[in-house]
Amino acid sequence: MEGREISKAVITRLPRYYRYLGELLDSGVERISSNELSTRMKVTASQIRQDLNNFGGFGQQGYGYNVKYLHTEIAKILGIDRQHNLIIVGAGNLGQAIANYANFEKRGFIIKGMFDINPRLIGLVVRGIEIRGGDDLEQFIADNDVQMAALTIPKTKAPEIADRLVNAGIKAIWNFAHVDLNVPDDVVVENVHLSESLMRLSYRVCSMQDRLAQEKEKLNAKQEKDFK
Ligand code: NAI
Repeated sequence: MEGREISKAVITRLPRYYRYLGELLDSGVERISSNELSTRMKVTASQIRQDLNNFGGFGQQGYGYNVKYLHTEIAKILGIDRQHNLIIVGAGNLGQAIANYANFEKRGFIIKGMFDINPRLIGLVVRGIEIRGGDDLEQFIADNDVQMAALTIPKTKAPEIADRLVNAGIKAIWNFAHVDLNVPDDVVVENVHLSESLMRLSYRVCSMQDRLAQEKEKLNAKQEKDFK
C-alpha cells in the first residue's frame, strides 16, 4: 500500500466499510463474501472488490473476506488505530454536543480540552472536560500533544483562530464554521456542513416528488386518452 495514491472517492467510502465490518464483528461474523457485503451495504460487489483491491485485496477466492482482518486493516488505513488528541474551540451548542458524544473516544479521538471566550462558559465542565479561556491555548496544545482541532465558532472568528491553531502546531482542522480556511500545505482541513447535507436531501426529495408527479400526470393523461 505504501506510496500508492488512494482516490478520494475510495477514502470517502472506507468509514462506511469500517462501520459495516464492525457490526458484522459484533454479531460474530468471521468472514463474508463480496456478494454478501454488497447486499448488506447496497453497493455493487464489483465496487467492493475494486475498492478493497486498492489495499492489496484482502479477500481470498472461495473464502471471502476475513472480517476482523479487514476491519483492522481499514482502521490502519484511516489512522484510527492510533490516538488523536483533539481540542474543541467554541464551546457553544455544537462544541458541547461534540464533547458529549462519547463514541469518538472509541475511535481513538481523545478530546483533551475545550476553549471559549465567553466568561459564563469558562470553568464549566462537559463530560469531564473543562472549558478554558483562550489565553493558554498554545501552551495547552504543546503540553497535551494536540494535533487536531474542531472549530465550532462563528465564521467571522474562524480564520483568525485557525491561524493561531496552525502557528501552535495543529495539523488537522475539523471545520464546522461556514467559511473556507486558508492553511499551509502541511495542514489538512475537513469541512463539515450539515446544511449542505440537508440541501442535498432537499434536492433528492424534490426530484423524487417531481418525478412521481410527472409519472402520475402521464398516467392520468394516458387513462383519459384511453377512456375517450
Ligand atoms: P454558539 O453560539 O452556541 O457557539 C459558538 C461559541 O463560540 C460561543 O460559545 C462563543 O462564545 C464561542 N466563540 C466565539 N468566538 C470565539 C473565539 N474567538 N474563541 C473561542 N470561542 C469563541 O453556536 P453553535 O450553534 O455552537 O455554532 C457554532 C458554529 O458552528 C457557528 O459558526 C455555526 O454557524 C456553525 N454551525 C455549523 C454547522 C455545520 O454543520 N457546519 C451546524 C451548526 C452550526
